[in-house]
Amino acid sequence: MSDATSAVPVCIAGTGSYLPEKVLTNADIEKIVDTTDEWIVTRTGIRERRIAAEGEFTSHMATHAAEKALAQAGIAAEDIQLIIVATITPDTLTPATACYVQQRLGAFGAVAFDISAACSGFLYSMKIAKRLISDGAFENALIIGAEKLSSFVNWEDRNTCVLFGDGAGAAVLKKAGPGDGEILATEMGTDGRQTHLLNIPGGGSACPITTENADQRLATLAMLGKEVFKHAVTRMKQSAEKVIERSNLTADDIALVVPHQANLRIIDAIADRLDIPAERVFTNLQKYGNTSAAAVAIALDEANRSGAIKKGEHVVLVVFGAGLTWAAAAIRW
Ligand code: UT7
Repeated sequence: MSDATSAVPVCIAGTGSYLPEKVLTNADIEKIVDTTDEWIVTRTGIRERRIAAEGEFTSHMATHAAEKALAQAGIAAEDIQLIIVATITPDTLTPATACYVQQRLGAFGAVAFDISAACSGFLYSMKIAKRLISDGAFENALIIGAEKLSSFVNWEDRNTCVLFGDGAGAAVLKKAGPGDGEILATEMGTDGRQTHLLNIPGGGSACPITTENADQRLATLAMLGKEVFKHAVTRMKQSAEKVIERSNLTADDIALVVPHQANLRIIDAIADRLDIPAERVFTNLQKYGNTSAAAVAIALDEANRSGAIKKGEHVVLVVFGAGLTWAAAAIRW
């Protein structure tokens, strides 16, 4: 599903991110499960990740990231009209984490809801918000990817616990004026035949956690990594190509690709297939691991604030996650 450049252009007016203070290094993880720094670095590229403090929830991290994005956009919280939080680790099953964020920000003029599209959630949110602004339903929107994955990781499973981390990233979208950038094209897709490859099997209505099954740790991430890896490379490459083409651009026009931060080998494979050199691909998974919906949002904010993206340049965001889901966006900054 994709869209070409819309009649009313929409831009990104500000970005923000938040990472909790606590750092968990590969050396720390060596003390928890049977693994090595060498295995984690060579197979994934990850060196450390952040872990939320006790009492620090997804909504707290989302709010911190949102405050920075709003400040950069120069928009007051009370003037925001739409808040979408993409997360698979909500504070509570209901109400939506976006409602807690609205409360913390004091953004009481906003409609607020969550979407669940795993690691693709931030770009799903971008497409939805862009369309709603473009159609005139809202003047602006705050989109946030936020995760406290440390609460949903089985810390006895070396296959998964080395991969994930906590954090949040946000962006403010608004109608573009003269001289502003523009979200040129967005694309997203889903393959529900692959739900078994990556999921949290317990804790929902299909498998509530009971005293009988509590010791099986069913409310934690389960993944068939190798299979996910193959789908990720294929889908992200195709998705990125679609938005580049629909923006009437070529790979040579893309100043920076900001991909989902799951595995350096996946990122290298995509860059190679897109024929984009490594120096034009942004990575920060070395520091944060895979933060699911937050990952691309945090990376976008770091790229923006570090000057890795300059005004007028073209950026491609591309993501992949459980569902399976994938999405991409081409943006003139
Ligand atoms: O964000 C959503 C999308 N998620 C992804 O994109 C993740 C995609 N998948 C991956 O990134 C990779 O598949 C992993 C990093 C998860 C795994 O890398 P792999 O190269 O596919 O390894 P593998 O699963 O084939 O495991 C290779 C070996 C196995 O041992 P045997 O069976 O060959 O003896 C594992 O038991 O590595 C073993 N292993 C480990 N060894 C040390 C698995 N995890 C660990 C570990 N430390 N942490």
